[in-house]
Amino acid sequence: KWICGTAFHTPQRGVLEVLDEVLIAVDETGSISQIVRNNEPRFGEIKAAADREGRLTELADSQFLLPGLVDLHIHAPQWPQLGKALDVPLEVWLQKYTFPLEAKYADIDFAREVYGDLVDALLANGTTTAVYFATIHMEASLALAEICQQKGQRAFVGKVAMDDPDQCPEIYRDSDAATAVSEMRAFIQRVREFSGGANALVQPIITPRFIPSCTDALLQGLGELAAETGCLVQTHCSESDWERDFVEARFGKTDTEVLRGFGLLRQSTVLAHSNFVSDEDLSLIGKAGAAIAHCPLSNVYFARAVFPLRAALDRNVHVGLGSDVSGGHSPSILDGCRHALSAARAREGGVDPSLAAAERGVANSAIGVADAFWLATAGGGEALGLPIGKFEPGYKFDAILIDLDAPGSNLRHWPTLDGLDDVFQKIVLNANRANVMRTWVNGKLVYAAQV
Ligand code: GUN
Ligand code: FE
Repeated sequence: KWICGTAFHTPQRGVLEVLDEVLIAVDETGSISQIVRNNEPRFGEIKAAADREGRLTELADSQFLLPGLVDLHIHAPQWPQLGKALDVPLEVWLQKYTFPLEAKYADIDFAREVYGDLVDALLANGTTTAVYFATIHMEASLALAEICQQKGQRAFVGKVAMDDPDQCPEIYRDSDAATAVSEMRAFIQRVREFSGGANALVQPIITPRFIPSCTDALLQGLGELAAETGCLVQTHCSESDWERDFVEARFGKTDTEVLRGFGLLRQSTVLAHSNFVSDEDLSLIGKAGAAIAHCPLSNVYFARAVFPLRAALDRNVHVGLGSDVSGGHSPSILDGCRHALSAARAREGGVDPSLAAAERGVANSAIGVADAFWLATAGGGEALGLPIGKFEPGYKFDAILIDLDAPGSNLRHWPTLDGLDDVFQKIVLNANRANVMRTWVNGKLVYAAQV
């Protein structure tokens, strides 16, 4: 299969590459096998042949191809809570709204209904890879993994582990650490069985909710299970003042140090938030090859602090974006780019550089549009150790087709006014669900807008 058109990607952080009128070949395994530029002599011949054989998809002038978006942190069961219940701090929100909602996923029919709707919505928003928290329930968590597989979304799905009776309500907690660990082991096996093993589209991920909700025995057991199974790990890390202080009081250490001690800080462990990490924590995270899911919108509500993004990136720590639905009230990772941009600008503070350093914020905190898009694509892919997020031979064809002139679009294609760099910026800053015309995962069309 061939696709012909103009593509944007950010193969390195902060570097936009415009692939102006190229041919991209996708093989049977869903990987990009070659990219042919329009100044190569064979371009015309290949295009004509692909067209003749009915194997060519050609983009219109107002359409552009971008890598699919990677959501490193999303709570699937919180989808019905999107856009509400953000009036209280994290520790109240969990007990008052979120644990009671998540407890409802004991009902498998309810779970299927919500999860099917969520995965459809994410694909329509261009999220080709999602790293999910599900709930503590085996059947509902398996259903989420099956739905991702069936709808063709690349996913890591985590059955949530949380067993501390002091922090988790009776209606919503694992009965004890040993049971939670053995259920997690069974969950991993069952997902690997139906999805096709360790390199499958859908994979299990070991998911201790966060340190406060887990006993030492559970954290220890899950660390051992990660080593035993080679499964990735995800959790929340240093998210809010309350959460950080809780961990400090219990262990006299930071979240990062505690996770490391329990064997949970591993290659591609996804740490959501990490707003209050110290420089030493960042070194530990970097050394482990772990990754941070930056959730800038949710942080406005629960962290009341801005993640030190530039500090993490300057240390070459893996970072990508998370929507953190429903702590974040948008499922769109393009929205995530905008929130990351504005959070970084807010952290930088004053316009006068002398003020920025002294009074208003942290100098050199801002990021650019190409940085934000890299976080949303190649950065997320690197975090997970997957060949996704850019258009290069050997990478998976996970992609979205954005149409500036789509019905319902806020944007318009103004080729006499806008260069291709301008078009890229406009997409990152303004494109929305209406602009996403098609979504491909692993070479397969998984969403097409009705027009
Ligand atoms: N910490 C523990 N659980 C959660 C959750 O569901 N959302 C967020 N944002 N933080 C958490
Ligand atoms: Fe979260």
